[in-house]
Amino acid sequence: MPDRFDLPAGFRWGVATAAYQIEGAVKEDGRGPSVWDVFAARPGAVRDGHTGAVACDHYHRYPEDIALMKDLGLDGYRFSIAWPRVLPTGAGAVNPAGLAFYDRLVDALLEAGITPLPTLFHWDLPQALEDEGGWLNRDTAHRFADYTAVVADRLGDRIPAWITLNEPFVHMVYGYALGIHAPGRALMLDALPAAHHQLLGHGLAASLLHERGHDVLIANNLTPVRPASPSPEDLAAATAYDALHNRLFTDPLLLGRYPDLSAFGVADDLHGAVRPGDLDLIACSRLAGLGVNYYNPTRIAAPTDPGLPFAEAPIDGVPRTAFGWPVVPDGLRELLAGLRDRYGAALPPITITENGCSTTDDLDDQARITYLASHLDALATATTEGIDVRGYYTWSLMDNFEWAEGYHQRFGLVHVDFETQARTPKASYAWYRDLIAVHQASR
Ligand code: NOJ
Repeated sequence: MPDRFDLPAGFRWGVATAAYQIEGAVKEDGRGPSVWDVFAARPGAVRDGHTGAVACDHYHRYPEDIALMKDLGLDGYRFSIAWPRVLPTGAGAVNPAGLAFYDRLVDALLEAGITPLPTLFHWDLPQALEDEGGWLNRDTAHRFADYTAVVADRLGDRIPAWITLNEPFVHMVYGYALGIHAPGRALMLDALPAAHHQLLGHGLAASLLHERGHDVLIANNLTPVRPASPSPEDLAAATAYDALHNRLFTDPLLLGRYPDLSAFGVADDLHGAVRPGDLDLIACSRLAGLGVNYYNPTRIAAPTDPGLPFAEAPIDGVPRTAFGWPVVPDGLRELLAGLRDRYGAALPPITITENGCSTTDDLDDQARITYLASHLDALATATTEGIDVRGYYTWSLMDNFEWAEGYHQRFGLVHVDFETQARTPKASYAWYRDLIAVHQASR
């Protein structure tokens, strides 16, 4: 008997991917360079010098990939649109061949009975905009809105809902504070304007999508923060970390203000980035849904060095993914309950826009099945506790380019042989297909 979870009627099933991680074809049909092309070319930036130049060659193989999705019986597919394919220098001249690719993709998805759920920005900023300061430059928010308008004008007749940004926290911290992702800047707290400018871009894009009658979501990677002990020092550190990781990217959207970052010595204008009217615009973006990417909880203790007001503490005694991430399914229920308690009526319906794990290169990926089943169980518990969850998009359809880890972490339901590009469904693919069929049959 396939697994079955007690989820609401009409619950939507999907998979998620992102352009730079799967498309390849980085120099084809007029695509401009992105920050990831430039960063991955830097010696030492990505493990073993891997790049997304070919990735899963999805740009050419999308019909085969959509056939795999159709056989899964998906309701929806979350993918991202590469800004530098549509606008090679980030602004100005539109590249018709780039837009045409997404046109074909969307049509093929609809033909397969799958609702497209595009993400407008999944970290592949056009390099030309990075040369002007990237997300540290307020102007990038306006360029993002212009790009959104171009895409919405072309695809909007077939797209009911859009995700503006993917994981703005990770993009700011890894890309601008620590320099382990593109664009590789290591500015520590001086990266904070990149948070505000992404959110401003979200607000500007959301208003124009709303004018066109679309639904708007954002995909935030959220983590339940657990203090390492009940000591006041650990509790204060956990509160500070929660503000930076979670509240910085949800409070402005749902409450119209930034959280208290005074533990970081940062005022609530985020180093002068916030201008009058910005928060109204961001909060006015009336999310149709909050996208949640959940992977694991975070355990936080008092700082051990004076630079930051927290230190990360290990989570012991739990299984780990191939990546080494702790597997804590109940963290998902805990996270959603925390959102409900914090935001109450201001919390929009939730969609799980990513959840999954990397496993070793194995077609019999029982560890992935166990991971997904235990997280869906926790999600079902959250819904019975009154939290409105509308759908679940697992990360990922197929093995792909895992950023600084290159091709070493395999998150797919489908195995990809990166030498031959052969796709082979894993055990988890059949499990997910059967699971979806059981739930759809009882609609
Ligand atoms: C978050 C990101 O959105 C996605 O690009 C990444 O591959 C997965 N999580 C796994 O790390």
